[in-house]
Amino acid sequence: MKKVEIHPEAVERVKKFTINDTQLGFGKYMSPIMIQALYEDGQWQRFDLLPYGPIQLDPCSKVLHYGQEIFEGMKVFRHPDESIHMFRPEMNARRFNQSARRMAMPEVPEDLFLEACEVICAYSKNLVPRRLGESLYLRPFMIATEVGMGIKPANQFLFMVVASPSGSYFSGDAVKVYIERDDIRCAPGGIGFAKTGGNYAASLNSYAKTIKLGCDQTMWLDSVEHQYIEEMSGMNFFAIIDGKVVTPALTDTILDGVTRRSIIDIAIAEKLPVEQRRLSIDEVIKGIQNETCTEAFLCGTAAVVAPVASLMDKDGSVYKLKDGQGKIGMQLREKLIAIQAGRAEAPEGWLHPVRNLDF
Ligand SMILES: Cc1ncc(COP(=O)(O)O)c(C=O)c1O
Repeated sequence: MKKVEIHPEAVERVKKFTINDTQLGFGKYMSPIMIQALYEDGQWQRFDLLPYGPIQLDPCSKVLHYGQEIFEGMKVFRHPDESIHMFRPEMNARRFNQSARRMAMPEVPEDLFLEACEVICAYSKNLVPRRLGESLYLRPFMIATEVGMGIKPANQFLFMVVASPSGSYFSGDAVKVYIERDDIRCAPGGIGFAKTGGNYAASLNSYAKTIKLGCDQTMWLDSVEHQYIEEMSGMNFFAIIDGKVVTPALTDTILDGVTRRSIIDIAIAEKLPVEQRRLSIDEVIKGIQNETCTEAFLCGTAAVVAPVASLMDKDGSVYKLKDGQGKIGMQLREKLIAIQAGRAEAPEGWLHPVRNLDF
């Protein structure tokens, strides 16, 4: 396996770096180091750990015009014994490469992806927070850096990993969801399952509408019948219907969330009935009205699990969940947070320990 070259300036920077703020926020502070690797001549060149800083891009780099880019988001936790663990990073590595294939980008071999993530964590160890709910957030990403206006896959790419010590993203308030009946996020055969900027760009217009209407999150429906729930712009969706934990089955228009999978596994372990199937917005609205759908929640790496207070429709109707604080969602959330933080036993392979380096 290729090794990551450690630049002494990066080590000096991280040794001197401190954060004097108890409100870490999300993405407010960055670790002062970053991983960088160039892909050219058909292969990955050296991987470097460098001081964090701006990168130079030619104005005609293809990423700036044609959006050939992908990214990941994952968390790293400090356990009570001070050991540091990445949460299911192999799943992020696999999803990164699924995104890469769809976007005609080179894969980053899984062992190299994991090594890059582990090295930035190992050197950022003093920045991994201690309080429950806090973590070091990792953002691996890849961009097309080849210069040229031709619309074709690039042959030069930059892979980077940056890290941000982050507080709890969850305010505790239940979320108001706006049902998007007009715009679509993606279509079958498109790029919905890939973690690529275009999907997020496509969601922003509706985000602005959602906020203007006093809601917090946009709910996307399928693009063919405008009837089946897919997900939020950055989280997956669950509803509790007739006591069952129901979530839309994965398709090529839904991001395969690591938190979604973890919640399903925890629910099964807790002996809760789980269904992954097509879930129509009509079924959920009717269920809320006749109280068979008692709660709903959203899940993703950043917020973990957030209960849904209400759904708002295009005509202004608001459907309030009976249990707006989400008893089952919160029970699953507590369990997942305890596993991540090393306060409950983790299923095999969920925690990837980060080696402890002296520097
Ligand atoms: C569109 C979308 N759906 C779902 C998720 C949740 O995925 P995960 O649990 O892997 O963070 C995310 C966040 O990454 C996302 O961007």
